Amino acid sequence: MVGVLDDVLPYYEKFNTLNTFGQLRRWRDMAARLAAREDTVLEIGPGSGGFAATLSYGELYCLDPSLRILEYARQELHDDGAQFVGGIAENLPFDDGLFDIVFCIFSFRDFMSKAAGLREIKRVLKEEGRICIVDVSFPEDGILKSIVNFHIHRIAPHLSALAFPRDKRRVWKDKHYPEFLRTLEAFGGASQYARMLTDLGFREVDMRLLFGRSAFIMTGVK
Ligand SMILES: C[S@@+](CC[C@H](N)C(=O)[O-])C[C@H]1O[C@@H](n2cnc3c(N)ncnc32)[C@H](O)[C@@H]1O
Repeated sequence: MVGVLDDVLPYYEKFNTLNTFGQLRRWRDMAARLAAREDTVLEIGPGSGGFAATLSYGELYCLDPSLRILEYARQELHDDGAQFVGGIAENLPFDDGLFDIVFCIFSFRDFMSKAAGLREIKRVLKEEGRICIVDVSFPEDGILKSIVNFHIHRIAPHLSALAFPRDKRRVWKDKHYPEFLRTLEAFGGASQYARMLTDLGFREVDMRLLFGRSAFIMTGVK
């Protein structure tokens, strides 16, 4: 997904807003409320910087494998104090116990190894520090599964294309959207990830399904 995002960064906020029927902002706000003004915060996978821009923090670190994405997010954030660091979640370039809170907002889905990423996040959190993950989810059964399937295959490719200038819509629909869909389908339902967090020793794991079980916000404490 990293290559795709690199190509579509200027349109990311708009197509994600369209695809989530405007829920994007609400979900990000729910997550952002967990950070306090004095916190040392890590956002893994800032993308175009839309979530980071809504955060309160004492110190902010944004980590991403793509230097182009980091540069884009840095320009969007307008904060010379924030740190933009190249790297991957599965091998975080930070000392143990540094952060009060770590956010993965629509980036957890892209981790090559979910367990390795979560172990690393736990390592870099302070005692009592928190993790917050927001991502999309596939309803595992019932009518909602059919509705979400219909949406992502039949509606979303066309709806999200409206975020792009006319000459870029075809490449989005034929090349980039299918790649996005592949990561979504491989990710599956949310419940397995709450179990994973608990198995890795996080406490007070809380999973809240959102918008017809098509997304979730999950938190846990080290
Ligand atoms: C969809 S964007 C998320 C954008 C943003 N957080 C938001 O609120 O919409 C996913 C981000 O995760 C990054 N990413 C992908 N794989 C990663 C990994 N293994 N470790 C860290 N970041 C990763 C991508 O480069 C991209 O910036």
